[in-house]
Amino acid sequence: MADLRTRYLGLELPSPVVASSSPLTGTLDGLRRLEAAGAGAVVLPSLFEEELAPEALAGADPGERAGYGAGPGAYLSLVERAREALSIPVVASLNGVSRGGWAGYAGRLEEAGADALELNVYYVSSRPGLSGSDVEWHYLDVVRAVRRATRIPLAVKLSPYFSSLANMAGQLVEAGANGLVLFNRFYQPDLDIEAMEVRPALELSTSTELRLPLRWIAILHRRHRVSLAASTGVHTTEDVLKVLLAGADVAMMTSALLRNGPDHLRAVEVGLRDWLDGHGYETVDQLRGRLSQRSIPDPGTFERANYIKTLASHPASGARS
Ligand SMILES: Cc1cc2nc3c(=O)[nH]c(=O)nc-3n(C[C@H](O)[C@H](O)[C@H](O)COP(=O)(O)O)c2cc1C
Repeated sequence: MADLRTRYLGLELPSPVVASSSPLTGTLDGLRRLEAAGAGAVVLPSLFEEELAPEALAGADPGERAGYGAGPGAYLSLVERAREALSIPVVASLNGVSRGGWAGYAGRLEEAGADALELNVYYVSSRPGLSGSDVEWHYLDVVRAVRRATRIPLAVKLSPYFSSLANMAGQLVEAGANGLVLFNRFYQPDLDIEAMEVRPALELSTSTELRLPLRWIAILHRRHRVSLAASTGVHTTEDVLKVLLAGADVAMMTSALLRNGPDHLRAVEVGLRDWLDGHGYETVDQLRGRLSQRSIPDPGTFERANYIKTLASHPASGARS
């Protein structure tokens, strides 16, 4: 039977399918269920910069669930309990954008037993005076601050909205990132036209959203010394195979697990093993990156070259000639 063992952020994982940061990873019970279903690693919900502000620290109420406002006490306790109860790597997650003391919290997460840290820089710049390079500098500044605070492996969860993502990826690696998670999913607010108000809208992803991470993983594979994780749109065995072929070290899942429950992981991994066995692969490594930009005869397929061809493939395009 095919061997699913994988390395991510220098850590040994039993499988390349990882449960990304979500409410499912916010309780010990949820984490145990994910490990039992075959998760290669788990990423805890984020501890937000806002929860680490001095005024927030005074009123935190540690309960069973960590993340989403429960405060750092509950979070550290979850990291400790998870590290003790699970044998797969436990990745803590910090979410912040500003320059401030919160970044130093990375050291506390390391002490609590986190095997690695994921840093989600969720930043929407609406200031016309701020240039693209100012925003990039800001990202790098935050990454450097967190890097200084801890020695455990650090992954940065990125947005796809950079003018030159390949360049930014290199700068993040120089700033101390050991892994890149492609991508963070921005939740765009919607408008309610009857109530005349702006509404937060959280919709789960579908497999069609996989194309964006797929392209960038294929482009970034082996460009920098950094682990790559695919996040957004990984739902099925086929999706996992695609991101591995593009060059991802791991495939992360949230929406599929929220929709189908943690046991969905088991079905995906059974499918993955069957496919690998059926196609003569003994390990995931043998497959990884076989369809990355560097491995295919026409690398332009991942860039502009395929643009006209794609548009022309629509039946209506024939009418113009
Ligand atoms: C309800 C919910 C909560 C989430 N919480 C976090 C979080 O705390 N930190 C984070 O980095 N990502 C968070 N995410 C984003 C997921 O980790 C993931 O990147 C995103 O859902 C895209 O992956 P998917 O297509 O597999 O859902 C959350 C997503 C959902 C749906």
